[in-house]
Amino acid sequence: MKIIFLTLFPEIFPAFLNFSILKRAQEKGLIEFEVVNLRDFGLGVHKNVDDRPYGGGAGMVLKADVLSSAVSKIKTRNTRIVLTSASGTPYIQKTARILSGDKDLIIICGHYEGIDERFIEKYVDMEISIGDYVLTGGELPALVIADSITRLLPGVLKKPEASENESFSDPSLLTPHSSLLLEYPHYTRPEEFEGINVPEVLLSGNHKEIELWRKQKSLEKTKKIRPDLLGLKRV
Ligand SMILES: C[S@@+](CC[C@H](N)C(=O)[O-])C[C@H]1O[C@@H](n2cnc3c(N)ncnc32)[C@H](O)[C@@H]1O
Repeated sequence: MKIIFLTLFPEIFPAFLNFSILKRAQEKGLIEFEVVNLRDFGLGVHKNVDDRPYGGGAGMVLKADVLSSAVSKIKTRNTRIVLTSASGTPYIQKTARILSGDKDLIIICGHYEGIDERFIEKYVDMEISIGDYVLTGGELPALVIADSITRLLPGVLKKPEASENESFSDPSLLTPHSSLLLEYPHYTRPEEFEGINVPEVLLSGNHKEIELWRKQKSLEKTKKIRPDLLGLKRV
C-alpha cells in the first residue's frame, strides 16, 4: 500500500514517519510513504496556491485548479482521495480498517481557511475529521490517519492480536448496540506500586479467568468513560 501526503509543509513529515513501527513497516515493504509539496504546483512566479474567498470573509482558500493539477499528476487508477477537514466525517477505527484495504491513498492536508468546494465535489472521495476541534492544518490529522492504517496492515505488528484486542476492535465483545468497547487496563512489574497491587487474577496463570476479567473491565471502563459506545447516555 502507498500513502501520499499532499501538503504545503513537507518538512513536518519525516520526523514522524521514520521512527518505530512506521519505519519498520516501510523497511519491510509493507507500506510506502511519499510527501508531495503542493507549492510545486502553484501558479505564477510566486507559485500561488491560495486566494481570497469569494463573498469576502477571513482567511485564504486553497485553489481548486492548483489542487487538481497536483492530484491529477500523482493519482493512479487505484487511489482513494482523502481530505482532512474539521467538518468531515468523524474518524473511527472502522474507517481505519476500511482505508487499510486494497487502495492507495492521497491524503490532502488543508491549511488557512479551507479548500475550494468545487475541488472537493469533483475529486475527494472522503472528508475526514479527527475530532470536534479546529487545528491550524491537516498535517497532524494526515499523520493520525496514516499511523492508524499502517498498524492494521498484515505483518506490521508482531502479533496480529495486538491490534485485534485493542479499544474499538474486539468483535467478541459485541453488544446489541455497538461492537466497540474500550480496552481493559494493563499492568506490568513491579507487583506492588505505591501501595497498589496488580489484580490477583492476572497473576493466577488461569487464562480463562483472565480473559473473563478483561472483558468485564472493558465493559466497566466503557460504561464509565464512553457510555455512548454502548448506546447509553453520557452523564
Ligand atoms: C484552520 S483549519 C480550517 C478550518 C475551517 N475554516 C473550518 O471552520 O472548518 C485548516 C485545515 O486544518 C485541517 N483541520 C483542522 N481541524 C481538523 C480536524 N479536526 N480534523 C481534520 N482536519 C482538520 C483541515 O485540513 C483544514 O482545511
